[in-house]
Amino acid sequence: DAEDALKPRPPVVTIMGHVDHGKTSLLDALRGTDVVRGEAGGITQHIGAYQVTLKDKSKITFLDTPGHEAFSEMRARGANVTDIVVLVVAADDGLMPQTIEAINHTKAAGVPMIVAINKIDKPEANAQKVRERLLEHDVQVEAMGGETQDVEVSALKKTGLDDLIEKIQLQAELSELKANPDRAAEGNVVEAKLDKGRGPVATVLVTRGTLRVGDVFVVGAESGKVRALVDDKGRQIKEAGPSTPVEVLGLSGVPMAGDLLQVVENEARAREVAEYRASV
Ligand code: GTP
Ligand code: NA
Ligand code: MG
Repeated sequence: DAEDALKPRPPVVTIMGHVDHGKTSLLDALRGTDVVRGEAGGITQHIGAYQVTLKDKSKITFLDTPGHEAFSEMRARGANVTDIVVLVVAADDGLMPQTIEAINHTKAAGVPMIVAINKIDKPEANAQKVRERLLEHDVQVEAMGGETQDVEVSALKKTGLDDLIEKIQLQAELSELKANPDRAAEGNVVEAKLDKGRGPVATVLVTRGTLRVGDVFVVGAESGKVRALVDDKGRQIKEAGPSTPVEVLGLSGVPMAGDLLQVVENEARAREVAEYRASV
């Protein structure tokens, strides 16, 4: 895409960390900061990604991946969709094996990281010890003279969330995230399933272009025509631009997480590409 066609887009954030350190709790708490959410009637449906709109109208997309395996699996399939990793470390437990794995996966991906020191409300919490242990794994937070941002939070008490959001926004600004919204859409499957009533459904994160109802596409070894687009609040929408997570209906079958979705000219072309992809 030509430089002048690129427009700023929201950051895509993946939350990683050791089991039970509070990833889901933090995602839920961050979801609570969404100023648009109330309008949807408070229905919390689980889709593998959601977007919050902040008071200043800026947006952040969060990926609710089940862990760093999914992150690496997606990366192995060519889906480098994460702009920022938030590493959740419980302040009472400290660094654990999956924390260290998450650090290594993030470094391998070359993605900037923000450390969220969670459960700071607990009497046993020791944030300083977490910072010291991070240093042993070559993660140097600001308080230790480094450049990695860290923030103390409590997903339970909902403290430190504004601070975390501010740091995500700061990092996003540094990364100058852009995409061309005015082209045939591309995106990656975050998760997919066979829904009893609706047939194959894929949650797709649009990476560039704008995906619209009626668009013909290829996704992995499947193809289709967009019958409906459903946002993370359960609302039917007509189009989804860069960094927007959306449920896509109208697929020939269930694709795999990480699969690339590409809009093509027509259905004959879609079948041709899908058949080729299935054969290799
Ligand atoms: P897995 O997905 O199973 O790896 O866990 P997770 O990282 O998503 O952690 P989850 O959000 O399920 O939280 C694990 C436990 O920690 C739950 O009992 C939460 O209530 C508790 N918890 C999460 N955040 C906080 C916090 O800030 N303070 C306290 N005291 N407890 C918390
Ligand atoms: Na848990
Ligand atoms: Mg969880």
